[in-house]
Amino acid sequence: MSDTIFAGRTALVTGAARGIGRAVALLLARHGARVAVNYCRQAEAAAETLRGVVAAGVAGVAVQADVSQPEAVQAMVRQVREALGPIDLLVNNAGIVEHVSHGELDFAAWRRMLSVNLDGVFLTTWAVKDEMIACRYGRIVNISSLAGLVRKPHMIHYATSKAAVIAFTRSCSEAFAPYNIRVNCVAPGCIDTDMARQADPALVAQIVAGTPLGRIGTVDDVAAVVRFLLSDESDFITGQTLPVCGGRV
Ligand SMILES: NC(=O)c1ccc[n+]([C@@H]2O[C@H](COP(=O)([O-])OP(=O)(O)OC[C@H]3O[C@@H](n4cnc5c(N)ncnc54)[C@H](OP(=O)(O)O)[C@@H]3O)[C@@H](O)[C@H]2O)c1
Repeated sequence: MSDTIFAGRTALVTGAARGIGRAVALLLARHGARVAVNYCRQAEAAAETLRGVVAAGVAGVAVQADVSQPEAVQAMVRQVREALGPIDLLVNNAGIVEHVSHGELDFAAWRRMLSVNLDGVFLTTWAVKDEMIACRYGRIVNISSLAGLVRKPHMIHYATSKAAVIAFTRSCSEAFAPYNIRVNCVAPGCIDTDMARQADPALVAQIVAGTPLGRIGTVDDVAAVVRFLLSDESDFITGQTLPVCGGRV
């Protein structure tokens, strides 16, 4: 499907070089948004995403920034504004994962996880919210995880960061509602990306067995729900977390 529901809007998608972020960036471009493609390390992958954005007939820009670094995030938002205008649509997607037992989890790993998965969401949201408030328009979707809703003994730090993103979403939704800014969350189950490929194949098989729809998800399954939550079709929805997990929860 291709239309112009986001025509005239500027979107920033963090972690859009590959995986879910890339699928979201390409879908928003196909629906007419100008798209800023944030990446951390993979410049060539980000350039590939940007080529797809431009091929959809919209303006785009690739911007390097580590979302856990306050100054880098400020610089990223400045760069996007200069290239594409004020940010109307924000997708906080950048994230990392690690599978470790409680015995292996130390403070350095805990801090790293929270700095990317939680500080990154805070810093990027805070860098765009004042302009959204001034414009009286904003749509924010945060990518959490099913891990934020269920027990995950082998990723305690990851699950904690993703649960915090759900709480952040809920509270921001009320704080920003008077300014016509909606904030929602998507909680993907196991999705076929580089991240999921880090998991033990036996664990993935177990996940599929416990999924009523009998498969893992695709990046397009998630992107479609992000598109919905950014669009006017979801105009009476804010502060919610929508699992995209084939019925696992
Ligand atoms: N795949 C799943 O099963 C699954 C399930 C639930 C939730 N999620 C969530 O969905 C989101 C996307 O995951 P994915 O599966 O698409 O992962 P992925 O394929 O590993 O891609 C992760 C993306 O995040 C970027 N990134 C990592 N650290 C960053 C940082 N410090 N600053 C800026 N960008 C950074 C990476 O950039 P570079 O390429 O430049 O390194 C990459 O583009 C994550 O928040 C993840 O937790 C994924």
